Amino acid sequence: MEERKNMLQSQIESRGISSPTVLAAMLKVPRHHLLPASCAAIAYSDFALPIGHGQTISQPYIVALMTELLQPKPEDRILEIGTGSGYQAAILAEIVREVYSIEIIKELAEEAQDKLGKTYSNIHFRCANGADGWKEQAPFDGIIITAATRNIPEALIEQLKVGGKMVLPIGGVDEVQTLSVLEKTEKGTKITPNIAVRFVPMVDSSQIA
Ligand SMILES: C[S@@+](CC[C@H](N)C(=O)[O-])C[C@H]1O[C@@H](n2cnc3c(N)ncnc32)[C@H](O)[C@@H]1O
Repeated sequence: MEERKNMLQSQIESRGISSPTVLAAMLKVPRHHLLPASCAAIAYSDFALPIGHGQTISQPYIVALMTELLQPKPEDRILEIGTGSGYQAAILAEIVREVYSIEIIKELAEEAQDKLGKTYSNIHFRCANGADGWKEQAPFDGIIITAATRNIPEALIEQLKVGGKMVLPIGGVDEVQTLSVLEKTEKGTKITPNIAVRFVPMVDSSQIA
């Protein structure tokens, strides 16, 4: 708990994250439980860490920023693309009613479900290509994509409610990616860029080893 308090003060509040629900969730979720044992000792460091299969868990500040930009409310149902370690899903599950989380790598999807399934009955896991979304559960109040893409999948825009937000890194692997907020209105979509980021790419099944 002491490590999480330090993380909040030195990495998150100091960079301007002020949402009480986001801060409470970041204080509560044990990030070290969701990492490979070899990284547990540095779980609260100010950088991204490997979670196996060539994938990463984002730096704590980026998780906090993406969550704050999504502006999640207690009654919301949120779709996450890229379960990875399950950390972002757990942060959201502390704040909203239901989280639907899709991961394309089977081993990561299973591991996250094993670690979080008992604690969070409001996280629903699926192993699939997130670009297709989760049609049976749509529409969603918000969508968070934790892998970078140049083109926002049309299915995900369709599955977002009018008035909802999608938070995602836009850009290719070797490009400067921009963390962005897409807002869906009656008239269409509006994209607001935030900060430059570096994420692993959103892939399809043919790109998985
Ligand atoms: C930066 S990591 C996610 C971090 C994760 N949210 C966490 O809290 O640990 C990106 C994840 O997106 C997954 N991913 C990439 N392309 C995907 C796709 N098309 N559908 C679903 N997941 C995908 C990767 O396998 C990887 O686990």
